[in-house]
Amino acid sequence: MRRKIIAGNWKMNKTPSEAVALINELKPLVETQDADVVFCVPAISLIPALEAAKGSNIEIGAQNMYFEESGAYTGEIAPNMLTEVGVKYVIIGHSERREYFAETDETVNKKVLKAFEHGITPIICCGESLTQREQGVTIDFVRQQVKIAFLGVTKEQAKTAVIAYEPIWAIGTGKVATTDQAEEVCRAIRQCIAEIYDDETANEIRIQYGGSVSAASAKELFSQANIDGGLVGGASLKTDFGKIVNY
Ligand code: 13P
Repeated sequence: MRRKIIAGNWKMNKTPSEAVALINELKPLVETQDADVVFCVPAISLIPALEAAKGSNIEIGAQNMYFEESGAYTGEIAPNMLTEVGVKYVIIGHSERREYFAETDETVNKKVLKAFEHGITPIICCGESLTQREQGVTIDFVRQQVKIAFLGVTKEQAKTAVIAYEPIWAIGTGKVATTDQAEEVCRAIRQCIAEIYDDETANEIRIQYGGSVSAASAKELFSQANIDGGLVGGASLKTDFGKIVNY
């Protein structure tokens, strides 16, 4: 039985003091033994967030990380900077990073390998645009993203990875994918992992759905056979996140 994982992606929201206040507000609401709960906060808030989350069930994750160890990469954050302060998860290849910051399947793969090298669990994002869905290439497209993201990743590493299926047209639009649409793609992703590795790996890897998840839609989505939780944007900044975690 896979353990659910509900992660909040705060994106570029909340100053460090606001982050601490929000964690203190949400802490009692997201308490659960039944799922992993992760708050992925902006880099500048990682340390205060870790401090604020101490003693609770909340894990803190980053939203990005570079694939080199150190050096002349102005503005980037190295993996050992994250591990030294206690960051356990990192979102890799979010569609916003692909769209606005030129991330590609190849850089996603490099970052995934680097995260594993440092013992950080990557939350690897994939998902199609509205055009791709209308063209009928959703599954092909997502399979390609997944296959490239996992190049060189060992079976033991893959078992611990988290994949977030986030259809781009459902992000921040209030237009949540139907349960069937979300389950269909998450099932195809699991099948793809079975083809790359084996059934055992496919059964262990956790696959989230993301895109306008709300307190109203969480229960049905997360009850699907192949959906192991969610990556939540807007609703993770509100008390609604407590309802989503305890769906
Ligand atoms: P929303 O939940 O705001 O649609 O964002 C989804 C997302 O991009 C999470 O990574």
